[in-house]
Amino acid sequence: MSTLDWWRTGTIYQVYIRSFADGNGDGTGDINGLRSKLPYLADLGIDGIWINPWYPSPLLDGGYDVADYRDIHPSFGTLEDADAMIEEAHELGIRILVDLVPNHCSWDHVWFKAALQAAPGSPERARFHFTEGSVADDGTVGPPNNWKSVFGGPAWTQVDDGQWYLHLFDPSQPDLDWTHPEVREEFRSILRFWLDRGADGFRVDVAHGLAKDMDFPDLSDHVQILSSAKQPNHAHWDRDELHEIVREWRAVLDEYDGRMMVAEAWVSEESLPKYLRPDEYHQSFSFDLLMAAWNADAYRSTITSVYEPAKALGAASTWVLSNHDVMRHTTRFGLPADESWRTWPVTGPADALDTELGERRARVAALITLGLPGASYLYQGEELGLPEVWELPWDVLDDPVARRSEGTQKGRDGCRVPIPWTAAGESFGFGGPAWMPQPERFAAYATDQQIGVDGSFHSLYKDALRIRREHFVDDAELTWIDAGDGVLAYSRASGVRCVANMGAEPVPMPAGEILLTSMPGLTDELPSDTAVWLRPT
Ligand code: NOJ
Repeated sequence: MSTLDWWRTGTIYQVYIRSFADGNGDGTGDINGLRSKLPYLADLGIDGIWINPWYPSPLLDGGYDVADYRDIHPSFGTLEDADAMIEEAHELGIRILVDLVPNHCSWDHVWFKAALQAAPGSPERARFHFTEGSVADDGTVGPPNNWKSVFGGPAWTQVDDGQWYLHLFDPSQPDLDWTHPEVREEFRSILRFWLDRGADGFRVDVAHGLAKDMDFPDLSDHVQILSSAKQPNHAHWDRDELHEIVREWRAVLDEYDGRMMVAEAWVSEESLPKYLRPDEYHQSFSFDLLMAAWNADAYRSTITSVYEPAKALGAASTWVLSNHDVMRHTTRFGLPADESWRTWPVTGPADALDTELGERRARVAALITLGLPGASYLYQGEELGLPEVWELPWDVLDDPVARRSEGTQKGRDGCRVPIPWTAAGESFGFGGPAWMPQPERFAAYATDQQIGVDGSFHSLYKDALRIRREHFVDDAELTWIDAGDGVLAYSRASGVRCVANMGAEPVPMPAGEILLTSMPGLTDELPSDTAVWLRPT
């Protein structure tokens, strides 16, 4: 067993609760569904679970619009169910991370409802960013500035008395004012609420967004919303003031044993170290690999750019191939390099997708990432090779991205479709009639088609997690090996190597004892888009 903190080397499985497993047959995933699948997850070999928001919410952004931070959405269960789940997970050696959403709440939150009832300038409005609009030369009144919502459209909505409130995301997600002491105190108390219930830590949403320039200056036109985090002194991303807030949270976590928090921070390589200072986050997601082009050079330089700064700080790298915000990577990898996965579901053409290629590459990416030092975050269904449901019709889409993109993007529902557990039966064994329709092709990916089947995605992940625990987790060393054009190769301190042929031509199988191959039957050579883990003989 590793002597390092579990989260430094762990495999953390992301559960999108609404779509994981439905315990009561109402068509929506829930905590009791998750409880029933804990043995499945323990058998897969994961170390922790991050659960997407499970709080009471109008679900206008999949639960990232929180109406009450100290309760559970009735569709997902009760606090007692959550307590039981945490206890059962712990008995199986699995840690639980709760999703903390501090940048904004829901417009159904008691604070925001009170703010709407109260007058401009009232204490109730002071917990949010309410302000007057701007007046143009011709006297017309508009939003206070030109900030845009990440989901499209202005970041401001006007209320009946003429004031405007800020929402960097959907209008249903008003931003909290983190200069307000009550906001600060409330979130410290929320942290304690979940820590006292046994949560092992938090995934922190929009960690780079909490602080705003309180003069609300216009942004220059060319600045894009998320990449703007790379701009120094941006008016609402990655501002220095937010670190003081993080330090307050860290002090709370440090009152407890062994708890951690991971930041969802879309910031530049230069900025990231600030989030990982010893009195701030334990780790931060890196999404760079998720964005990298499919070739050995791009992977090597991206991995280096994530690994080296983390190592220099004594922090752990994180590896992410998919999550609930992006197209599932089996599908992403099957699209031509010049195709944008964000718009392709709208623009097509459907025959641009090469499913077999995507799946081959997804297997290679699994061996590359699961062999690296650091934590690996897996998204539910990734271990089944589940594809994106890119063909969902517009009328079933639920994501605000689809609603606000004016027909240019279908949004994120395609990666949030309920998991198929069995090839037969209602909703492929998910539970009742699935809240988001599942395609017929899901039958082939169901767990009962894969568990114990040689060569299945599930077997690959299960074998990889077992070997990872045996050979990869006791150190943070990574040594690159020059293995020729198109081949990515590295070794770990144990001597175990990962060799991935990302080029077009086959290469001879490297010397050593084969521990695992991305496809069955690889012995003499590594064809294009295959990988192997080897140990020295
Ligand atoms: C990031 C979350 O991952 C995403 O799903 C959500 O829409 C935004 N933050 C806003 O909370």
